[in-house]
Amino acid sequence: MAKTSIGLDIGSSIIRVVELEKDKERVKLRSLASIASPQPGMNGEGDVELEAVASTIKSLLTAAKIEGKDVVVALPESKVFTRVIDDLPYLTDKELSSSITYAAEEFIPLPLTDVNLNWQILYRSNPKDKNPRTVVFLIASPKTLINKYVKVLTYAGVRPKALETETMGATRSLVGPNPFAPTTIIIQIGSSTTDLTIVSKGLIWLTRSLSTGGLALTRAIAQHFNFEMSQAEEYKKVYGMLEDQLDGKVYEVLKPLIDIIAQESKRVIQAFAEKYPTSQIKRVVLSGGGAKMPGIVIYFASLLGLEVQEADPWYTIIKDQTLATKLSQDAPAYSVAVGLALREE
Ligand SMILES: Nc1ncnc2c1ncn2[C@@H]1O[C@H](COP(=O)(O)OP(=O)(O)OP(=O)(O)O)[C@@H](O)[C@H]1O
Ligand SMILES: [Mg+2]
Repeated sequence: MAKTSIGLDIGSSIIRVVELEKDKERVKLRSLASIASPQPGMNGEGDVELEAVASTIKSLLTAAKIEGKDVVVALPESKVFTRVIDDLPYLTDKELSSSITYAAEEFIPLPLTDVNLNWQILYRSNPKDKNPRTVVFLIASPKTLINKYVKVLTYAGVRPKALETETMGATRSLVGPNPFAPTTIIIQIGSSTTDLTIVSKGLIWLTRSLSTGGLALTRAIAQHFNFEMSQAEEYKKVYGMLEDQLDGKVYEVLKPLIDIIAQESKRVIQAFAEKYPTSQIKRVVLSGGGAKMPGIVIYFASLLGLEVQEADPWYTIIKDQTLATKLSQDAPAYSVAVGLALREE
């Protein structure tokens, strides 16, 4: 039997799972499924709440006919700390692991004993360079957060093969490790947050989590029109950012919130261009459920003045033709789950 791998994205509104079959160079879709997340879900603290998430994951895996127990899971970007450390001298791997804790102490608001540190080397000069240096992307995950995820997964009867972050998952499925891909910003609009990621030379250089996501958009419509949330959700999905619909009424309500996301994206794009003039951002990928909103691609393209595309995490993956249309409808929402499943051992 071919080797399979399972990506599990425990979103705040929807939990998704993807199982891929890897056989030499080919990656084939074996199974996928999604289910509404219980509330408050992973934001809960008590055992009852966490057990509710676990039993939902169990139902999801049953529905997807997934029997494997080893899953790759993402921690929410909004709860981990990431930073590019670019003031280090040339360091060997061994030197780096001791120096990194000093650098970490400066920006992590928790005692270092309370976090797990991971890092990736973004750049390391030749030791004999005039200006020898090492640039590192550092990720600090609170141990309480990791313990909570491990607990839920254990209740659900699965084992976390790896715990990554949402942006690491989305980066793998949407950009991949290709060092020649154009520098890209991924704007991942979920339900509770929007996560920005800058990917250059196949590596992550910046992540930022904003607390404006799809739920805030729905709430704004509900408040403005005095609608139930379900009706507001419908309006968002049908009219979204289409200025010529309903006299632009929905557009006007959504615009200030979308602009929070768009302006912050613009700001990080400009800051990146100033810092790294030779690897300017050439491409914008809209991901997450919010990327499916009518009119949003055009709105971002005109505001950012860049090429904007809707995320398609399935593009390199072999799938049955019968599935292809169905997958494309919900594609941007699967970026994280697909990327997690694509993780190499
Ligand atoms: N066609 C659509 N138009 C506009 N918004 C949409 C559309 N389809 C889904 N959404 C929105 O996408 C959001 C859900 O996205 P997603 O499934 O990526 O979130 P999540 O992973 O559960 O949340 P988070 O990542 O913040 O924890 C919801 O707010 C939903 O209203
Ligand atoms: Mg999500």
